[in-house]
Amino acid sequence: MQTKSFRIDRYISKHLSINRRDIKLMLAQGRIVINGDIIRDVTTVVEEFDHVVLDGEVLQNKQALYIMLHKPVGVVSATKDEIHKTVIDLLPSNMGFSPLDTSSLHIVGRLDLNTSGLLLLTNDSRWSRRLMAPEEKVSKVYQVGLENEITDEYISAFSEGMYFQFEDITTQPAQLKILSPRVAEVILQEGKYHQIKRMFGRFRNPVITLHRSAIGNLILDKTLRAGESRALTSEEVSSIF
Ligand code: URA
Repeated sequence: MQTKSFRIDRYISKHLSINRRDIKLMLAQGRIVINGDIIRDVTTVVEEFDHVVLDGEVLQNKQALYIMLHKPVGVVSATKDEIHKTVIDLLPSNMGFSPLDTSSLHIVGRLDLNTSGLLLLTNDSRWSRRLMAPEEKVSKVYQVGLENEITDEYISAFSEGMYFQFEDITTQPAQLKILSPRVAEVILQEGKYHQIKRMFGRFRNPVITLHRSAIGNLILDKTLRAGESRALTSEEVSSIF
């Protein structure tokens, strides 16, 4: 996903085929307004969700969307699927961004078909890229139900990391807390393919239930039942890191 930001002169010339000298004049005449402010500096950068007006005419007015969904088991984390219902199918047509343009949304950190819990959707690729960037080390918290009893041995194995031959990587230190004999809380700072199932697979202990309850500082809203969603507040959008 590309970052959609341009210097103001490039932005105007791209949209309206006006040469850069004329754009400088427009700036000097105070005809360009971004997010309510008259812009005169040619080095100003227009971001994807800035509100841009020229001579009173709106050139750009795209709303950033941030949604939390309580993903149920049996729904696929994809925007399209031939067989299963997708998480997009669960979103109401109006969430206060009327009407909701689902075609612009992408999923931030998928969950497997049989995993439930907190799933984020957005059209802001800069935000989602940051959320997924390995250097940000954003924690994902999971509750895991297992077929067999968990022992203390698991705690050190998870924190030391496990070698996955297929990708030739060692997993980052993960925290495992035993909540009851067959239930653990696992905190990962990464998200490799089927990571939790594969980690418990090392102990030949199949995962029966898997639920994500938090991403960074964002906790799945307890009032959302499986299948329900809501827009994030602006505090939540910025507090996640
Ligand atoms: N680990 C898994 O194995 N599955 C998920 O959905 C998330 C983490």
